[in-house]
Amino acid sequence: MRILITGGAGFIGSCLVRTLVDRGRDDVVVLDALTYAGNLENLAGLEASGRFDFVHGSIRDEVAVANAIDGCDAVVNVAAETHVDRSIDEPGVFLDTNVQGPRVLMDAVRARRVRFVQVSTDEVYGDIEDREPATEDSPLAPSSPYAASKAAADLLVAAYCRTYGLEAVVTRCGNNYGPRQFPEKLIPLFITNALDDRELPLYGDGLNVRDWIHVEDHCAGIIAALERGRAGWVYNISAGCTLTNRDVCRRLLDLLGKPEGLVRRVADRPGHDRRYALDAGRIRTELGWQPRIPFAEGLAATVDWYRVEREWWERVKTGEYRTFYARLYGDRLKTDLASAPKRGER
Ligand code: NAD
Ligand code: DAU
Repeated sequence: MRILITGGAGFIGSCLVRTLVDRGRDDVVVLDALTYAGNLENLAGLEASGRFDFVHGSIRDEVAVANAIDGCDAVVNVAAETHVDRSIDEPGVFLDTNVQGPRVLMDAVRARRVRFVQVSTDEVYGDIEDREPATEDSPLAPSSPYAASKAAADLLVAAYCRTYGLEAVVTRCGNNYGPRQFPEKLIPLFITNALDDRELPLYGDGLNVRDWIHVEDHCAGIIAALERGRAGWVYNISAGCTLTNRDVCRRLLDLLGKPEGLVRRVADRPGHDRRYALDAGRIRTELGWQPRIPFAEGLAATVDWYRVEREWWERVKTGEYRTFYARLYGDRLKTDLASAPKRGER
């Protein structure tokens, strides 16, 4: 198969691309706009496989999408604006990318009749509080502009399946962790701050619960849905590992050998969901997927990765990526770095 993966230069997208290329069965094309979260360094070395191609462009751009999708048998839409705090400051770009982008992709997909996977999130179910974990049939009740934009895209997929007979599936996963995550999210922010003995800003009382999964387990679930998911269906992906932010923080400090005194309680996130929890029974029984990486093991390996890859996250944090790309890649990848957005620009 030749598979178009959008957002392949980001955290989850690059793990998905690496998994598929390493498997050696499929050819992969990445379409990525290289926003502040996109990093070509995440794809370093893949061009040597002969199974990988990169196109610089936006999923909102019909011409770029048409070029990238040419000859592909399937599209996995991983591209999105992903950070809840940013969506609270600037909702517009979330609607543009996360709703209009999938619309452009699905119009291209339906014209060519290729398979489509929309990578979504447990945040579409909103705050679970003390209820049972969300199933795929639970109501959508998003709390943040980010979550609302993802829920809107999920509904658009359902509408395209029914109206145009699109062969599409939606996956909804909880909080990912692992290598190459942009250090604005809880785990990489806290690891990199702690490594530099800087404060860890814990929102509110720190008792909000998230459903954690290693990024490689998430990508295995996306591949299962791509290859075996029933058209028109939604698949939750979860390892069943629900923890409070305080618990996560304590485990990180233990692994890093850093004092609790680094934690600083700060003002809460507006609209902050108290608890997420997913029921992943469908993907386990129907598609035979199961998570492989226990949280303690995955977290320790993630801490080690950030310890070793200090140069990666220092470049990301300080924004020295442009000169680095130029030196590393020259013109080997089909991308126009001169017009790529600067870090912090979207
Ligand atoms: P990320 O922020 O690390 O990467 C997003 C990627 O999308 C970047 O490479 C960026 O350049 C690219 N992108 C952004 N706008 C684009 C556009 N208009 N056109 C093309 N590319 C564009 O994100 P992530 O954490 O890897 O998340 C990937 C997907 O998984 C998102 O759809 C997100 O909603 C979903 N998801 C994430 C998590 C999580 O915990 N991170 C959990 C569940 C679902
Ligand atoms: O649940 C899946 C979602 O997980 C994905 O759809 C999103 O793209 C991804 O960003 C993530 O959203 P969260 O808001 O849950 O992740 P974040 O890492 O931003 O925050 C995790 C928890 O930690 C949340 O309760 C807020 C808290 N937090 C976060 C940051 C960045 C802090 O206490 N301090 C912080 O500095």
